[in-house]
Amino acid sequence: MQVISTATEYDAIYQQWQDQEVALVPTMGALHEGHLALIRLARQVADVVVVSIFVNPLQFGPQEDLSHYPRPLEQDLALCRELGVDAVFTPSVAVLYPEGMDNVTTVVPPVSLTERFCGEFRPGHFTGVATVVLKLFNLLRPQVAVFGEKDAQQLMVIRQMVRDLHLPVRVLPHPTIREASGLALSSRNRYLETEAERRAALSLSAILNRVRLSARQAVQAGQPPLNAETTLGEISREVLAEQSGPGVTIRLQYLAAVDKDTFEPIHTLGANAKVLAAAYVNDVRLIDNMDVE
Ligand code: PAF
Repeated sequence: MQVISTATEYDAIYQQWQDQEVALVPTMGALHEGHLALIRLARQVADVVVVSIFVNPLQFGPQEDLSHYPRPLEQDLALCRELGVDAVFTPSVAVLYPEGMDNVTTVVPPVSLTERFCGEFRPGHFTGVATVVLKLFNLLRPQVAVFGEKDAQQLMVIRQMVRDLHLPVRVLPHPTIREASGLALSSRNRYLETEAERRAALSLSAILNRVRLSARQAVQAGQPPLNAETTLGEISREVLAEQSGPGVTIRLQYLAAVDKDTFEPIHTLGANAKVLAAAYVNDVRLIDNMDVE
């Protein structure tokens, strides 16, 4: 496995791959089973697998965890080696942003996609994501790129960028990987320090599961689809009351139903509904989502 950090080094190995199909798995490192599933999928669909590891400052807000973001590079490289990754691209900030980030050209995704949910609470985040992903696509020239469905809004933004800018990259989504408890895997789970925090973190998947179950039961019973606002409100109150405990505060940031194809908010929990959630467990921000069907 080659570990490279500059475009010139990459160009040299890219030439050797000739007509082979290259799949990229873009990551910020701190790899967990969720990333490993993306890498395995990349391995299945392409001849060559490239993983990028770059904690992208442009997608972090001033109050966010950029300086504390976990960077266990040696561990990440060992995992990539085990999975037969061909190359890991670990550029420095100076390689990706040689002139700094203040006056850099950015990709601004449509406001209709970013004004709500994570975009509302993390201004500029999706501009940072789209910009770095476009840079990675241009530098690494993959034919396929694999992204996790846990970051559902990010996936929408990237798909739309690929369509709008006619990028010659096939975006391949991978379903969210969960612990047996239901907790969606995330690099930020390692910030959950106490048992109470870990228990509270299960609130997100518990709410989403219960919403899904109730919506399905209504359909199976031949009832009209449930009202999204009422159902989400009732179930979240129920779950938060159960999962709260001493030493832990759970603060729901958003909980909403959207059409899974357009991301437009919807008012009933029909077959096309996706439910999105974000919450703070003490200081740790977690996100999750689930399709009703
Ligand atoms: O999902 C992530 O890890 C990041 O947002 C990505 C896509 C690697 C861009 O920095």
